[in-house]
Amino acid sequence: MLKWAQIPAWDDNYIYLVHDDKEAVVIDPTEADPVIDFLNDNNLKLNRIINTHHHPDHISGIDELVHKYKITVSCSKYDKNRVPHASIFFEPNDKLEILGSKVNIIDVSGHTLGQIAYHFPEEKLLFSGDCLFRLGCGYIFEGDPEMMQKSFSRIKDLPKETLICCSHEYTLANAKFQESIECRPGFKSYHEALKQLRKEGKFTVPYPLAEDLEWNLFLRWDDEELKKHLNIEQLDPAGFVAEIRQRKNLFKA
Ligand SMILES: [Fe+2]
Repeated sequence: MLKWAQIPAWDDNYIYLVHDDKEAVVIDPTEADPVIDFLNDNNLKLNRIINTHHHPDHISGIDELVHKYKITVSCSKYDKNRVPHASIFFEPNDKLEILGSKVNIIDVSGHTLGQIAYHFPEEKLLFSGDCLFRLGCGYIFEGDPEMMQKSFSRIKDLPKETLICCSHEYTLANAKFQESIECRPGFKSYHEALKQLRKEGKFTVPYPLAEDLEWNLFLRWDDEELKKHLNIEQLDPAGFVAEIRQRKNLFKA
């Protein structure tokens, strides 16, 4: 069973690693220096880089790490020409092994075309890039709401104890938006608990999928009470995701 680690980077990114106390795999290295420090501090050897999508805050550490450790870079086949040094390509539903652990490749396109997530079923970890965030989701840059909603459906189908290792600490901004439209009374205390975590300097991610199944607006297209509250009962699931994304885009904190 692999262990995981999380390294904050840039303003609000998280880099993740999985390791077996000897070798490590880094997911989406925003920058190289904190990864190198972590490897040195923990006496780990970098085995490879795996990547969810091509955005600069997910690839900017790759070049330095490849030159230093002579390792391979893997990414989505769609990102073949968009991720530096990539030489091994994955497609949705591929099954592979990383450091002896099973990994399933999940299509989480919508934020970008071809974005993939890495699901480690034994460790119950999902490295989801910029698809789902705690109480929110990524911008729909290259795909469309239907694609995004299908990606959310794939994540919703995972065991609810799965730890969502998303790439950004956007939780409080998402919660602020949610407070402006949420109909359930319990949200206020949930929001306060998250604020308290940040006050104590703690991260709010990763987090169990169960929390987002309960609260994340973008996953609640079957929540009739919410749809009624927002007066969008007529919308289908993709229309619902489009509507919430649009409201969030227009929200002024
Ligand atoms: Fe991104």
